[in-house]
Amino acid sequence: MSRLVSAKEMLTKAKAGKYAVGQFNINNLEWTKAILQTAQELQSPVILGVSEGAGKYMCGYRTVVGMVNGMLEELDITVPVALHLDHGSFEGAKACINAGFSSIMFDGSSLPIEENVQKTTELVNTCNILGLSLEAEVGSIGGEEDGVIGAGECADPDECKKVADLGVTMLAAGIGNIHGKYPANWKGLSFETLDAIQAKTGDMPLVLHGGTGIPADMIKKAISLGVAKINVNTECQLAFQEATRKYIEEGKDLEGKGFDPRKLLAPGAEAIKATVKEKMELFGSVGKAN
Ligand code: 13P
Repeated sequence: MSRLVSAKEMLTKAKAGKYAVGQFNINNLEWTKAILQTAQELQSPVILGVSEGAGKYMCGYRTVVGMVNGMLEELDITVPVALHLDHGSFEGAKACINAGFSSIMFDGSSLPIEENVQKTTELVNTCNILGLSLEAEVGSIGGEEDGVIGAGECADPDECKKVADLGVTMLAAGIGNIHGKYPANWKGLSFETLDAIQAKTGDMPLVLHGGTGIPADMIKKAISLGVAKINVNTECQLAFQEATRKYIEEGKDLEGKGFDPRKLLAPGAEAIKATVKEKMELFGSVGKAN
């Protein structure tokens, strides 16, 4: 029996309670362990995000499901955890459903709206039958992810309503957010667009992608306007990189058994934990496991 849960209940509670649940993308065992341990320690619900590229890197979706399910049991993780495909293609969504993911994102934002609606509808039906949560996207999110470069447009609130009404669990809508680091001339989030989307979509939990580098006051305002899930990826990667670089530059890998991967990767894992903790505190999900 898997301990994984759909993201539906945690996000409905978050939207009603005016906080957000973090989606933290995973890359390997250290990443996954660091995020799960932090969620358990802080009694926070959490969503583990897996992009198609990261899924491939970790040997495929079944390996990911096996690793996560094993950890949930052996670390005795009792907080709600969803394993979520991030920016999935239609084929990727079907593969993750078959592999045992508990939550799916189908990103049809680059398709004509009719095709996005048609494919999303098909997945709504499958996910409903299986009790999985489904995220849809309207209006592409800028920056680069897995080699795909989006323009960062603002979503059309009427199109958002159309997709929300299909029965998806949560909706990602472009509001000027981008993946990766924000450029110096970034204009900030479009709260006008977010407000208009929330007015049309009501109780639907909204998803803010590109959580790395968004100032705390903008995050808080976005949550007050209906964002209930915030995705963070690059910030954990940068934290891991900085700590690992420091360990090596200080020559620690050359001292004693400092070359042992369990030692070499430890500072990076601790840095991921600190980043996740900071985000969970900012998002307001600490203590919201029950
Ligand atoms: P960042 O890498 O900018 O944090 O974005 C993560 C994300 O939105 C994953 O879908």
